[in-house]
Amino acid sequence: MKQSVDPLILGIESSCDETSASIVQGNKILANVIASQRIHDSFGGVVPELASRAHQQQIVHVVNQALNEAKVQKNDLKAIAFTNGPGLMGSLLVGASFAKAMAYSLGIPTIQVDHMHAHVMAHFGTRDSSHDDFPSFPFLCLTVSGGHTQILVVESHFEMRVIGETQDDAAGEAFDKIAKYIGLPYPGGPLIDKLSKDGDSQSFKFPRPRVPGYGFSFSGLKTSVLYFVQKQQEVDSSFPGNRMADLCASIQKTIVDILMDKLILASNDTGIKVIALSGGVAANSGLRNAIESRSDWKTFVPAMELCTDNAAMVALAGYFKFRESNWGDLYSTPYARFGGV
Ligand code: KG4
Ligand code: ZN
Repeated sequence: MKQSVDPLILGIESSCDETSASIVQGNKILANVIASQRIHDSFGGVVPELASRAHQQQIVHVVNQALNEAKVQKNDLKAIAFTNGPGLMGSLLVGASFAKAMAYSLGIPTIQVDHMHAHVMAHFGTRDSSHDDFPSFPFLCLTVSGGHTQILVVESHFEMRVIGETQDDAAGEAFDKIAKYIGLPYPGGPLIDKLSKDGDSQSFKFPRPRVPGYGFSFSGLKTSVLYFVQKQQEVDSSFPGNRMADLCASIQKTIVDILMDKLILASNDTGIKVIALSGGVAANSGLRNAIESRSDWKTFVPAMELCTDNAAMVALAGYFKFRESNWGDLYSTPYARFGGV
C-alpha cells in the first residue's frame, strides 16, 4: 500500500466572524472546525470590535478541537497556514498572531494565505480520498458572500485574475440588508431563500443595474426595494404581510439574474465553460439551480462547509504554497484589502 507522504498542515481563518481551524493532509480534509459568532445577530451585521474579541476567546478551543478530530498531534504538523488578508484588521491579527506564535514554538514554517485565493482553492479539497473530480484550468470562479462578489479567471493554482467585482455592496450584503428592510432577522440571505420557495418570482419587478464589463452593483436594488416597501406601506401598513414569499422570490430572482448575466457574459467572452461557485451565497438555491441548469457548462459547487468562510480552504491554499516552499515570515502584517495571490 502507498504510504502517504503529504504534509499535515494546520489552517487558521479569522478574517471576519468565523473562527475556524482545519487540518489537511495534502488535499484531504481531516478536520474543519468552524465557530460562527452569533454575537453579531442582534446588531444586524458584524461589529468588528466584538469579532476580534470573540476570535481571541475561541481560537485555542477551535485549534484543539481540529487537532482532536483529525487525531493529529501538534508535533506532527509540518506548517501552519493562516489568512493574512483581506478582512477586518482586528480579526486578522488574532489568527495571524496565533499562527506565528504556534509555528515559532513548534519550529515549523508559516504560510500566508490570501482569503480570496483560499475561496478558489476550496474547490480542490475533499474529505473522500477517492474523489477526483476537480475543476480543470482555466475556469471561472464566482465568489459571492457577505463580503465579496468577484468573477475570477483561474489559470492555475496560483495564477488568477479578477475580471469583475462589485462597485458597492457584496451579493450577501445585499441579501442581508434588503432582508432587514422587509422585516427579516440577520443574516437574511438564507431566510429570503427559504421564503422564496413558496413565492412567485414574477410578482414584483425591480430595476437591474447598468454596470460595464463584468462588474456588479447592488446598491440601486437595495434602495429601490426600500422605496417600494415604504410606498406599499403607505397604502397597507401590514405590507409585505401575506406577500412576503412573493416579495422574497422577486428579490432573489433579481439578485440571481444580476449575477448570472455577468457570469454568462464572462463565459461567452472568454469561451470558458468550466464554472465554479464559492462563498456563502453559493448556498442559495436560486443561484445553484441557475448555474446547474446550463447544459453547456461543467459546474462545481463545493460542499457548504467549504463555501462559507472556513479554515479548510486556507489549509488547502497553504498546501499548494507548501509544495512551492512559499513560506511566510514573522514580520508580515495582515492587510485589509485584496492585493493578489
Ligand atoms: O461566506 P460567508 O459565510 O461569510 C462571508 O464572507 O461573508 O457568507 C455569508 C453570507 C451572508 O450574507 C448570508 O446571508 C449569505 O452568505 N447566505 C445566503 C444564503 N446562505 C448564506 N444568501 C442567500 N441565500 C442563501 N441560502
Ligand atoms: Zn469569505
